[in-house]
Amino acid sequence: MPVLSLNEDEREAAGRLLTAFFDDYERSIPRRPIFPAIDREVLSGLLTTPFPDQGIGVEGLFRVINQKILPNTTTLSHPRFLAFVTGPGNGIAPYADAIAATINQNCAVWQGGPVASVIEQSVVAWLAGLFGYGDRAGGIVTAGGSMATLDALATMLHARRPQFRQRGLQTADSPLVVYASVEAHWCIDKAAAILGIGLGNVRRVPVDDHYQMRLDALEAMIRADRAAGLEPACVVATPGSVNTGAIDPIATIADVCAQEDLWLHLDAAYGGLFVLSKRLHDAFEACARADSIAVDPHKLLFAPYEAGCLLVRDRTNQTRAFAFSPPIVTVEEDPLIVNYMDYGSQLSRGFKALKIWSALQTFGVEAFTSAIDHTLDLAQYMAELIEAQPDLELLAPVPLTAVCFQIKDASETDHAAALAQLNGEGTAFLNPVRLDGRHGLRACVSNFRTTRNDLDLIVARVAEIARGHQRGGRAYRVRASEDAGNHLIPR
Ligand SMILES: Cc1ncc(COP(=O)(O)O)c(C=O)c1O
Repeated sequence: MPVLSLNEDEREAAGRLLTAFFDDYERSIPRRPIFPAIDREVLSGLLTTPFPDQGIGVEGLFRVINQKILPNTTTLSHPRFLAFVTGPGNGIAPYADAIAATINQNCAVWQGGPVASVIEQSVVAWLAGLFGYGDRAGGIVTAGGSMATLDALATMLHARRPQFRQRGLQTADSPLVVYASVEAHWCIDKAAAILGIGLGNVRRVPVDDHYQMRLDALEAMIRADRAAGLEPACVVATPGSVNTGAIDPIATIADVCAQEDLWLHLDAAYGGLFVLSKRLHDAFEACARADSIAVDPHKLLFAPYEAGCLLVRDRTNQTRAFAFSPPIVTVEEDPLIVNYMDYGSQLSRGFKALKIWSALQTFGVEAFTSAIDHTLDLAQYMAELIEAQPDLELLAPVPLTAVCFQIKDASETDHAAALAQLNGEGTAFLNPVRLDGRHGLRACVSNFRTTRNDLDLIVARVAEIARGHQRGGRAYRVRASEDAGNHLIPR
């Protein structure tokens, strides 16, 4: 028996322990601490203990995982983990990921996994179809929205500058300029910095009082840049901004891009999959006019990390950027099967598309639409709860599922203390937000497990903290609890 294989008994034990692990975890989610009481001693031990010369075996591994790893994890799937934009993994995903690891396909060239290439194409084509992209569209499953935007801007550079592959941006040509709203995600800055566009050439366009990109400001910036001898190259619009869920006016931005000959990229990492909701369908209609779109199945398709996707309206732009023929691979063309190394930065790639495809197969598209509608309903409900509280106020409209609000008259420090209290006592994990210089709290309801009761609990608790704040004290003392949310202790 090769030393790195499991024998039959070990396989039986691993299967039994893994099934028990999956099952216990799923059952325990609502009772788990949202954020762990970090055990520094255990973490230091994990950091400094040398790997054993003689392995601890399957049972030993599961023991360490249950005793040391699991208690120090954050329960992102908890119904009251409402920070960032965090979709909890769907139920079939752990099994699909285990299958992907078992068959271990290399999705670089089709010979590394012919069916994997077809599954990835089917996922990409389905996503592209949601946005109204046609036959010429292409795309690739990525590690997330930031990576999709990075690859999108790389694609844009190759389309804009035919000599880009050879000469990069090391030319005497005018600097290229990228436009995104002040509310756009900083992955755009990061991509611009990595690709050599330079942060100095990223214009942050002001927003209106709905936090949507202002067209007049965009046009004025483009004019000013042209007048200064720069080359406007790309607008990144955001249908669903990370802070407030604001949907930039895609159709009119697309008109500007058409007039000005600019690439239009949509950072739809958060908002894009709301296209599945009939209520929001119209808001996404103009997406088909974008040159590229970044979406994030690890958000609203509830795939476990990592799963993003880049969609490109004309896939020849993508291959122009990424197709190389390194001498180490010989790849034949086959119209059925795609070599994904030609569509993105990676060569060796895992079979991420399987978990997306498996969930769509297992639950069906309608289940995702319902889950997404459920989060939209809950966000409206939370907004109503906040409006009904005299000491709380909404900071922004709630077009999607991000709810930004503040404790009236509270400072940044007060809000930070409220967050720490909510987290410390196990009520909820929210994040801080700053809008127009105003500080507050942000809850993003992107979990199909969250219920109205969870939101009742959170808003009531924040209102309590706010009343304590108005009285100049604290309404509750904090007790770190293993049993999240069930031990609010009135003073
Ligand atoms: C609008 C937007 N863009 C980009 C990102 C980054 O996505 P990822 O974390 O998948 O890289 C996020 C993350 O929340 C986002 O909301």
